[in-house]
Amino acid sequence: MNQELPRHIAIIMDGNGRWASARNLPRIAGHRAGAETLRSVVEECARLGVPYLTLFAFSTENWGRPKDEIAGLMGLLDRYLKKETTTLMKNNVRLVTIGRIADLPGNVQSTLRKVCETSSANTGLTLNLALSYGGREDIVEAARKAGKAIARGELDPDAMDSSLFSTFLSTAGMPDPDLMIRTSGEMRLSNFLLWESAYTEFFVARKTWPDFGIQDLHEAIREFQARERRFGLTSSQVRSGGK
Ligand code: FPP
Repeated sequence: MNQELPRHIAIIMDGNGRWASARNLPRIAGHRAGAETLRSVVEECARLGVPYLTLFAFSTENWGRPKDEIAGLMGLLDRYLKKETTTLMKNNVRLVTIGRIADLPGNVQSTLRKVCETSSANTGLTLNLALSYGGREDIVEAARKAGKAIARGELDPDAMDSSLFSTFLSTAGMPDPDLMIRTSGEMRLSNFLLWESAYTEFFVARKTWPDFGIQDLHEAIREFQARERRFGLTSSQVRSGGK
């Protein structure tokens, strides 16, 4: 049994809409309730000493949602960031982002810049918000950057391997996620951290995101700790330290 905490937890926060329709509420009420869960999960990860938490807050595909839902989500994000800056600072949380931030409304971009800057010296949890993020788009962008470096003569194409390629991704410098949690019972990756999740352990919770509580987070971590991670080796090799 591996008693270590995951170094990096990634979460697909799914089911806000279903939570709301089950209560005859507008979808945005589900997102609002989801923001409450987000706050408590961030605080708990900081308290436990998890080094990295990446949350799928808005995907490249989410731009296809109804305009009023997008506007509602962007407003919620802006208010969340402004309101939670004190909590982030109190909990020593550093905010970073991945995804095409330039796609977001100007006010959200400027709030994000401020909170990232204010929290940049914090040394506890790194909270990584994936916004206008798509795993395929991120890989394509990394290939484009590597191609440009090759064209400028700064990179030998024969030197390219998977660890060098990782340095061109937006998650460069972060460990790959050890544990990926998805709520609402769906068994899909939905274009999230495609490259980084090659050896990630999955935990699917049946509850919707607004109903996901600290006990559920603990259960996911306990289940992760009970798993044997083999990274392509055999069980006996893992037990004897990879020999
Ligand atoms: C998925 O639920 C959730 C999202 C698309 C957005 C995640 C947003 C939040 C948790 C709200 C707070 C966010 C921030 C950044 C403050 P869904 O709408 O796909 O649910 P459904 O599948 O039941 O319709």
